[in-house]
Amino acid sequence: MESTFSSKPSHMNRETEEIYEKMDWNNLGFGLTPTDYIYVMESTNGGIFSEGTLKPYGNIDINPAASVLNYGQGLFEGMKAYRREDGGIQLFRPEENALRMQKGAERLLMAAPSVEQFVNAVKQTVLANKRWVPPCGKGSLYIRPLLFGSGAVMGINPAPESTFLIFTCPLGNFYKGGSAPMNLLIEESVPRAFPEGTGGLKNISNYSPVFSVAKEAKAKGFSDVLFLDAVDHKYVEEVSSCNIFIVKGNVISTPETLGTILPGITRKSIIEIARDLGLQAEERKVPVEDVLDADEVFCSGTAVGISPVGSVTYHDKRVEFKTGEGTVSQKLFDMLRGIQTGALEDKHGWAVRIC
Ligand code: COI
Repeated sequence: MESTFSSKPSHMNRETEEIYEKMDWNNLGFGLTPTDYIYVMESTNGGIFSEGTLKPYGNIDINPAASVLNYGQGLFEGMKAYRREDGGIQLFRPEENALRMQKGAERLLMAAPSVEQFVNAVKQTVLANKRWVPPCGKGSLYIRPLLFGSGAVMGINPAPESTFLIFTCPLGNFYKGGSAPMNLLIEESVPRAFPEGTGGLKNISNYSPVFSVAKEAKAKGFSDVLFLDAVDHKYVEEVSSCNIFIVKGNVISTPETLGTILPGITRKSIIEIARDLGLQAEERKVPVEDVLDADEVFCSGTAVGISPVGSVTYHDKRVEFKTGEGTVSQKLFDMLRGIQTGALEDKHGWAVRIC
């Protein structure tokens, strides 16, 4: 089989070299910065993945009839590599991303790498790009594993071959306002996900349908949109790129994952950390009224980390929440970031040190 990929080593290396020299590590945002290497592993027609390879960062060639282009047969993951204070590098719960990708692949009828293949590939990619992992406290190296139907098909059928690809990118804060609290708009007209749909998977096609409502909200000055459930239109589900939590007294609550909400790995970790801190953590239906009545609201995700929400607007009514020093979300953030960067004890064994 002809390879899906071509690379242009000399040109791309020169390009990343120039970019590297100009990096301003003190002011990282959320833009795409190409790093030195990508990782590529292609399955056989029988769906077997064997050895993958590292290639210089560059464009990929793809058959116009590939099922990912025609039928959206694709998944992505988001992970981060963190620089420790001692200069080492660690990952956070990478096997969870591997398992989530396998679950998505099952639904989309695609072959997926084993957990071991996935984690080894992530380690190799980060080590090959290790100079791009920002200094401790300045950001992290975002890791984007993709799995897609790269084989050509004409009928509505899964591709005979799939491709697993990883690229990385040094990143700072996800939202434009940096670490400033987010201002969310509750979106009523367009739901993000539907019962029995793919909202609970990192399916590539979950994201572009919400571009327009998110763009409109941003044009009005909001940071992002908070979606409601598609049936009753009264329970909050998630933001376009992250999960949501509310805090009331000693209790943190987040919408339960019944198929329309992404089972976030940061989300899951926060629930465990909150219990370690003596808080009560609930997964349940969260009506809009509970959000408006909360002491604090925050978002969670790999890209956003834990981001405090300063206000939520619903039916033109803006409600503000506590943010900053002394808040529950700040405590959870400090604990999570401490574990991710190796500054705090990792009693759950979540960190995977790679160098
Ligand atoms: C992540 O948090 O890694 C995500 O995948 C969200 C993405 C849409 C930025």
